[in-house]
Amino acid sequence: MIDTIIGTDLSYAVSLLKQNELVAIPTETVYGLAANALETEAVIKIFETKNRPFFNPLILHVSSINEIDNYAYLNEMSLKLANFFMPGPFTLLLNKKEIVPDLVTAGSSKVAIRIPNHPLTKELLSKLKFPLAAPSANPFGYVSPVSASHVLQGLNGKIKYILDGGICNVGIESTIIEIENDNVIIHRVGGLAIEVIESVIGKKIIYANNNKPQTSGQLKSHYATNTDLIQGNIDELFIENRNKKIAVITFKKLYSQLDFAHQFVLSKSGDINEAAKNLFSAMRKIDELNYDLILAEVFPNLGLGIAINDRLSRAQFINKD
Ligand code: TXA
Ligand code: MG
Repeated sequence: MIDTIIGTDLSYAVSLLKQNELVAIPTETVYGLAANALETEAVIKIFETKNRPFFNPLILHVSSINEIDNYAYLNEMSLKLANFFMPGPFTLLLNKKEIVPDLVTAGSSKVAIRIPNHPLTKELLSKLKFPLAAPSANPFGYVSPVSASHVLQGLNGKIKYILDGGICNVGIESTIIEIENDNVIIHRVGGLAIEVIESVIGKKIIYANNNKPQTSGQLKSHYATNTDLIQGNIDELFIENRNKKIAVITFKKLYSQLDFAHQFVLSKSGDINEAAKNLFSAMRKIDELNYDLILAEVFPNLGLGIAINDRLSRAQFINKD
């Protein structure tokens, strides 16, 4: 068992990463479990530590658009989007260059790349001569971490260092986009709203065909709590489950049928971005308490509400294989 330390020592993080060790890093979306993406020996540790299947590719994290050029081919429209949305909660799927190990992309000719927007991780990346491969820093299938202590809960004893950058500002994973023949294809809805991307490209985004080889973000059961969760009409679900000990995840309103102590409001003021930021913390908190069932509202299907609904629908126990 390794002693897992939480801290803000950048030079220690750099030295570990240079030795092909893992470091958990803060980003504006969720915490990542990072390793030198160019060293297979380091990347293998990510899969082993998370219990992640090898068919599931990883995102490369770099510090600038110039650096993307080293690892992938940026076509004109991708470059335009990169200039608009990077750094930020936005990942581009691009044709990869030879230098990116097959292990990172699970054998695909495409690599996912993003520039995280977090001061500590930006500084860390600027001190490294290699990109970081980093999936969310949680055991495979569980809710992503949005604080250093969330990372510790899942990976204590498995990694040496967690770089503490506070609570993630966006709180939901990056939006993954690919440009194919001038079409903009979305592989995962996330922390950058679809409408914002559409306003820049001036046309509608196309949803990726889910019958293609699946990415983990597209697996039906993912981002799941241990406690069973159902998303839907809370009033109806209350009646169907009246004998159970219930917690509710709600956007802004409270339900009179249940003690308020068991209701987790994600944004009192009805701000969908604030709700996204609070979603994973609420799911994790409820999971620590002894509930039989979590009921979650269907959020407004606009802006980050789309990503919130995506994560909640995939956390549902009825989808679990
Ligand atoms: O916000 C984020 O994107 C966070 C932070 C840490 O950067 N990372 C993250 O990584 O959510 P992960 O591994 O939990 O999810 C990445 C998703 C997966 O569904 C993966 O399958 C997909 O990106 N992906 C990565 N590379 C891909 C590729 N070459 N082709 C298709 N999908 C890819
Ligand atoms: Mg993940």
